[in-house]
Amino acid sequence: MTIQTVILAAGLGKRMQSNLPKVLHQLAGKPMLSHVIAAGLRVSREWPPIVVYGHQGQAIIDAFPESNVMWVQQKEQLGTGHALLQALPRIQGDQTLVLYGDVPLISEATIKQLIEHTPAKGIGMVTATLPDASGYGRIKRNKAKQVIGIVEEKDATAKERAIKEINTGIYLIPTKLLKKWLPALKNKNAQNEYYLTDMVSFAKKEKIRIYDVKPNHIEEVLGVNDRVQLALLERFYQRQQAEKLMRQGVTIIDPARIDIRGEVECGKDVIIDVNVVLEGRIIIGNECTIGANSLLCDVELGERVQIKPHSILEGADIASDCVIGPFARLRTGSLLAQGVRIGNFVEIKNSEIGSGTKINHLSYIGDSDIGKRVNIGAGTITCNYDGANKHKTVIGDEVHIGSDTQLVAPVVIGTGADIGAGSTIAKDVPAAQLTLSHQLNQRTVPGWQRPIKKTLRQPTE
Ligand code: UD1
Ligand code: CA
Repeated sequence: MTIQTVILAAGLGKRMQSNLPKVLHQLAGKPMLSHVIAAGLRVSREWPPIVVYGHQGQAIIDAFPESNVMWVQQKEQLGTGHALLQALPRIQGDQTLVLYGDVPLISEATIKQLIEHTPAKGIGMVTATLPDASGYGRIKRNKAKQVIGIVEEKDATAKERAIKEINTGIYLIPTKLLKKWLPALKNKNAQNEYYLTDMVSFAKKEKIRIYDVKPNHIEEVLGVNDRVQLALLERFYQRQQAEKLMRQGVTIIDPARIDIRGEVECGKDVIIDVNVVLEGRIIIGNECTIGANSLLCDVELGERVQIKPHSILEGADIASDCVIGPFARLRTGSLLAQGVRIGNFVEIKNSEIGSGTKINHLSYIGDSDIGKRVNIGAGTITCNYDGANKHKTVIGDEVHIGSDTQLVAPVVIGTGADIGAGSTIAKDVPAAQLTLSHQLNQRTVPGWQRPIKKTLRQPTE
């Protein structure tokens, strides 16, 4: 049996109060729709998922430039049955799995359960029992507890509205039956829509059984209609991510105050303090600590790395035993060897830093290649940009750079050189010697008086 996924995503999303199409609103740093596409791809790889889109279609397609997705437009939103009908000519699988672009957290486990419980010729659906079922289609069952109908809230009687079991809208249906039934749907209902749910009455007539499964978590089948619901699902998702890491041996000081917006791989005995944001691809080695209020994006840390609070790291590769921050900023291309120390208010970009080197205070290091055991004094700046092009600074092993030095690139500092504090170095510096750019002509002015502020007007009474 082959399965093809169809994702319905043509709805308007008015209640988001947004210019952005609903399915492009982000959950865990990615458009809602991308979570659903990923779920579809995880259960069936034979064909790309088909996404039915509607208004602002181009914006949606543009948001997934590399995606392995087949796009189908539904020009008018005439209902879920009509939406699936637009995709019908493109469906190749024996069974069709229907998902929704605005039900982003459906899990692989629940979908797998649906697939396992649904025989090839039957219809599978995910239903859930909610304390407040309002807004959803309700599930009708016969005495034998078999599903015999779905009634939309707007078409329901008071008695039907009291039913707490709802239709999540997630189904697995033989494609052959869809080919027969979808073109035959009618829109004689309260919303004048072609309801996909009417297939259940066709099934009843043709004595085709309906198999139902429950989701592992209710949140998996909750839809996002407004930003309040989006925030609720975001928190649920974050809690799940945090629990996954904790089960793998990571201490998270407060699982309600971490945000994971990517793929995180952690070693053992990692400690993550509050308000840490992890984005993109993150690899954290054993015994690392991540300080409060830090943001890491596409970062790899070796073992025992300490990231102190308020540090921002993007595109950095940090070897074991480094100490970073507090208030450090490592930008793309920061490659730190073992035991490097980067202190407060230091910015590093596109630079390789050798083992044991210290850059502890108030510096900018850009486009540089720095050796081992170098000490960069407070306030050192690499002047890497001439207004048009970037230039490289090369610093040999065991160099000491005095505080408040400007290194005007391109420039090479020889191994073991010392640079006097406050120098402006614009020419290459020889190894193992002291270089200064100025005369130390300090003097004291005798009889000097501080200027006094002139009062312009006498105060009046
Ligand atoms: C639908 C179900 C309802 C179920 C609920 C679960 C029907 C008739 N009703 O109701 O039983 O409880 O979902 O959330 O199916 N869409 C399109 N094109 C359309 C209409 C909708 O692509 O013309 C898409 C929407 O983008 C959305 C999904 O289908 O992703 C559901 O549409 P929505 O209008 O929210 O359906 P409900 O009325 O909530
Ligand atoms: Ca809805």
